[in-house]
Amino acid sequence: MLGIIGAMGVEVAAVVGEMTDRQEHTVSGVTYYTGTFCGKEIVVAQCGVGKVFAGICAQTMILKFNVSHIINIGVGGSLDDRLNVCDIGIADGVVQHDMDTTPLGDPLGFLSGIDKVEIECDRAFCDTIETAAKTLGINCVRGIIASGDCFVGDSDKKKSVADTFNAIVCEMEGGAIGQVCYINGIPFNVIRAVSDKADGSADISFEKFTALAVEQSIKLLKEVMKSI
Ligand code: ADE
Repeated sequence: MLGIIGAMGVEVAAVVGEMTDRQEHTVSGVTYYTGTFCGKEIVVAQCGVGKVFAGICAQTMILKFNVSHIINIGVGGSLDDRLNVCDIGIADGVVQHDMDTTPLGDPLGFLSGIDKVEIECDRAFCDTIETAAKTLGINCVRGIIASGDCFVGDSDKKKSVADTFNAIVCEMEGGAIGQVCYINGIPFNVIRAVSDKADGSADISFEKFTALAVEQSIKLLKEVMKSI
């Protein structure tokens, strides 16, 4: 069983709409849809925005739906000049840019207990995603995706997240999903289509391009599903 998580309704609506044998299950106020998508058994949910909702959703998928792999899809802000609106960032690893125990001598993003900053995605599956993007002619970049409980919408913040973590995309859930998957030994991946440049124009760009970027991430997901 593959788990697919998106933060916003628009990010998972197309998946839910195209499922067959679909069943609904509500856990802690979140609706989980089980059924078949592109010929594969999946569970998909709109987790809500931010790291806590994302972590709850990933843990629920693991404990209640017995997923063997989780993919986080959706939109993100570009931190890298090579990524423009509707291009795709593929996470090789995720970090939490707002996790901060630096006064204790730790590096920014340090996850105490796990004692690491970056959590690695399923590398073989990153290759599969990259190949699928290339097949579709979609411009994609692989690298670190940085999550935090804030929408990045100014150039200073953008630069500090990009520089500190060498990150290509920012968003608000992937790092939490990665942490939950890591502690449960479940492989995971994050695919984000760029909706904005995480700068002063981000709010307007997000409003204008999210729907288009979501279409791109769903198109890629469907191509990826052919290889699962
Ligand atoms: N999701 C899409 N754009 C984003 C941004 N600029 N910051 C955080 N999350 C995002």
